[in-house]
Amino acid sequence: MLSKKLEEALNAQVNAEFWSAYLYLSMSTHFASQGLSGFAHWFKSQFEEEQEHAMRFMDYIVSRGGKVELKPIAAVDTKWNSPLHAFEETLKHEKIVSGLIYNLVAMAQEEKDYATDLMLQWFVNEQVEEEDTAQGYVDALKLIEGNNVGVYMLNKELGERK
Ligand code: FEO
Repeated sequence: MLSKKLEEALNAQVNAEFWSAYLYLSMSTHFASQGLSGFAHWFKSQFEEEQEHAMRFMDYIVSRGGKVELKPIAAVDTKWNSPLHAFEETLKHEKIVSGLIYNLVAMAQEEKDYATDLMLQWFVNEQVEEEDTAQGYVDALKLIEGNNVGVYMLNKELGERK
């Protein structure tokens, strides 16, 4: 059984994951309306992945006898100055999420709730990947800044995400 404190903290993370999903969906529609279908596709996949993260937390809460409480999702930005700006914001956001996961790990370890600690390790690894991917696209976009052919090529690459 989860402690009340962990149950609340995991529910807060469910909300954070849905907020992430909402943010990436907003980015996806932003790029779709700009004709950058590859960027739109990439962020839509990201939106779907974040919903899976939320689902993973919800399933876990239920499996430990807790109660899922879905709270309102706060508004997200709707505009970004450039693809680079969107990926910089993505990287910044993923770093914040990593911090949230680390706080949960610390809480689980403090309570000697090793099952929750173990579940969270999947997210610790996932965040390494999330930050690395976003950093990679920030670097790539800095390299091709002002080069439309570069943006065209990257748009094509992003459109191939499975
Ligand atoms: Fe659910 Fe992008 O972290």
